Amino acid sequence: MVTTTEIAKDVFRIAVFVPEINLEFSHFLVRDEEPLLFHAGLRGMFPVLRDQVSRLMDVSKIRHVGFSHFESDECGALNQWLELAPAAQPVCGLVGALVSVNDFSIRPARALTRDDVLSTGQKNFRFIPTPHVPHGWDAGVLFEESEKTLFCSDLFHQWGQREPATSDSIIDRCRDALLESEAGPFANYVPYTHHTGRVLEVLAGYRPRTLAVMHGSTYHGDGGKAFRDLATVMREVLGPKAQHGETTSEGTIRTEEN
Ligand SMILES: [Fe+2]
Ligand SMILES: [Fe+2]
Repeated sequence: MVTTTEIAKDVFRIAVFVPEINLEFSHFLVRDEEPLLFHAGLRGMFPVLRDQVSRLMDVSKIRHVGFSHFESDECGALNQWLELAPAAQPVCGLVGALVSVNDFSIRPARALTRDDVLSTGQKNFRFIPTPHVPHGWDAGVLFEESEKTLFCSDLFHQWGQREPATSDSIIDRCRDALLESEAGPFANYVPYTHHTGRVLEVLAGYRPRTLAVMHGSTYHGDGGKAFRDLATVMREVLGPKAQHGETTSEGTIRTEEN
């Protein structure tokens, strides 16, 4: 149930599908002078991920372990990676470092603030804080500037096992996923606030060409348009007209119109 795919030059998507919850977890390895793993993954997935990474490089040479926000699928196995790679350091936003990571991690994080750039050698990653998008005060994303690959965490979430990468629009899947999440125990997965649209517009402005999504296919195409489409979908599904985020007993979103 593990699929490894090169989604951009020397950027590998290592995806583990968990059929019991119909969800795929993607982790991104950047093979560069200072290798970066984005998403440390769940502790339970660590042995599988370690074996996959070791097919691509010497795992002890990983230098950066990055993630968007403090949650187990983002950084549960952080310390296992740090134990394996003596020079590796967590990398996350300042809020994440100060609120959670520096307490949890066996080594202190490299804490990034807006527009800080992490260089891995040939590639440069700009940190963009995205508080509460997709969720978590500490949330942020990394944007690789030469090939315009955005590591966007839970944004563009798709349920199920998907093709590793696609150039077809994923927005319908994302709408379905949000509706499905709202109708079940994962309701309120993504908050909708007066900041949400602005944060998504900032991300659209970087005009990413590859969206490295944690749950679902990587998307190749017009990332600016994809973010504006996502903003529309989130407003429709989660915004003020969506009955304050409530769902009906039938599992559908009520709006003011119906
Ligand atoms: Fe998350
Ligand atoms: Fe996630």
